[in-house]
Formats: sequence, C-alpha cells, structure tokens
Amino acid sequence: MLTIAVSKGRIYEEALPFLEEAGITPIDDPKTSRKLILSTTREDVQLVIIRATDVPTFVEYGAADMGIAGKDVLLEHGAESLYEPLDLGIAKCRLMTAAHKDAPIPKGRIRVATKYVKTAHSYFANLGIQAEIIKLYGSMELAPLVGLAECIVDLVDTGNTLKANNLEPRELIMNISSRLVVNKAAMKMKNKAIATLLEQFEHTLAKR
Ligand code: ATP
Ligand code: PRP
Repeated sequence: MLTIAVSKGRIYEEALPFLEEAGITPIDDPKTSRKLILSTTREDVQLVIIRATDVPTFVEYGAADMGIAGKDVLLEHGAESLYEPLDLGIAKCRLMTAAHKDAPIPKGRIRVATKYVKTAHSYFANLGIQAEIIKLYGSMELAPLVGLAECIVDLVDTGNTLKANNLEPRELIMNISSRLVVNKAAMKMKNKAIATLLEQFEHTLAKR
C-alpha cells in the first residue's frame, strides 16, 4: 500500500489532475467526508488528508510514503530528511515581506509577524537586519494595522489581501510552488511503485 499525504483545499484541488492521470481517484470527496484516510480507485493507494503544515512531518516519519506540500512549508520544516524529486508547479505564489503602504521600515531592530519563524529569522539574519520574529498562526496582515509589528512575512498571490489592508509587498524571499516529497526509506523499499508514480506525474507535468 502506498500512502500519499495531501492537504485539503487548494493543494488537493490542484493535485487532483496529477492523481487522476495516475488512476488515483478518491472514493469519498474530502470536501464532504469526515474520513481522514481516503480509499481510492487504486487498491494499492490511499490518501491521508491533513493540515498543509503537517505533510512533511507525516512523510518524514514514514506515516505517509509520499506527500504534496508547498515549498514554504518545506523550507520552514527543514526538508533535509525528505526527498523532493518533483516540482508540480501548482499552488504558485510568492513568499514576501510586506509592510504598511508608504511606511518606512525602521533602521534599527524591527518586529516581524509571521507563521514562517525559521525562514524569516534566517532571511533577516542573512541581510544583517536585527529582527524580532513574532509567531502568528494566521491573519498576518493584521499585525502592522494594530501595531504588533512593522513588517510581515507571508504568501502573496494576487496581492489583493495586502491591498485590502493598506499594505504593500516589499521584498521577494522566494517563489513558491508545491513539491512532491518522498520518505527516504520508502524510496528504497517501495521503489518500483514510487518510481512509476513519479513517471506518471512527470508525464502529466510535461503535457501542461
Ligand atoms: P494550514 O491548514 O496548515 O493553516 P493553510 O491554511 O496555509 O494551512 P492553504 O491556504 O490551503 O493552507 O495553503 C496551502 C499551501 O498553498 C501553502 O503552503 C502555499 O504553498 C500555497 N498557497 C497558500 N496561499 C496561496 C495563494 N494565495 N495562492 C497560491 N498558493 C497559495
Ligand atoms: C493566503 C495567504 C494570504 C493570501 C494571499 O491566505 O496567507 O493571506 O493567500 O493571496 P492574495 O495575494 O491572492 O490575496 P489564504 O487565502 O490561503 O487564507 P488563509 O489565511 O486561510 O491561509
């Protein structure tokens, strides 16, 4: 049995065509089902539906053989323990700093609100900027509006969320897309099944 970890929502929706081309269609729809393990039209493949940030953890510990996760999440998790053989080019966005429109960033120590604590920490450290990183779990855009931080590190796609809150994107940290990740032991033990699936995903990607 191959277990693939995917998060509900945007990544699941965008990963579906890859899965379907490999003959993997979930029997139940995760939008309506409360099941966390989904059987599929392939007897040898099941999906586990989890939080986006939990995908690398499940794959690292071998609770899932493979997973699909955003590069933002992999960067923050520290993905040395996983193979990352394929960029699926889905759920594309940018990891950026953002701040209040037209507000100068203070010269000395700055406060940065983000859920990407490690990534933000190393980004500012590399620039030699003293930053106090404040961990949030969502709605980062609120932080500059209420004086919690001067700057945020968050994902930007259309820029509409920033604009709606009088914020503007500043520096690009990294272009983000979702990657296929594979558990290192599974890559050896289930090599044939994983290699075949990888080829099928690559084939779907090549047709785009
Ligand atoms: P969690 O459930 O752990 O809080 P989440 O709410 O961030 O995760 P999603 O919003 O579905 O989950 O985001 C999952 C992934 O999709 C992100 O890690 C990122 O790689 C990508 N992503 C997030 N926001 C966007 C966006 N606006 N446009 C494109 N891709 C995005
Ligand atoms: C993500 C991200 C930004 C927004 C950016 O949130 O955290 O808030 O998308 O997209 P935009 O530039 O197109 O406005 P998401 O929509 O996933 O909501 P969330 O807060 O539930 O993660």
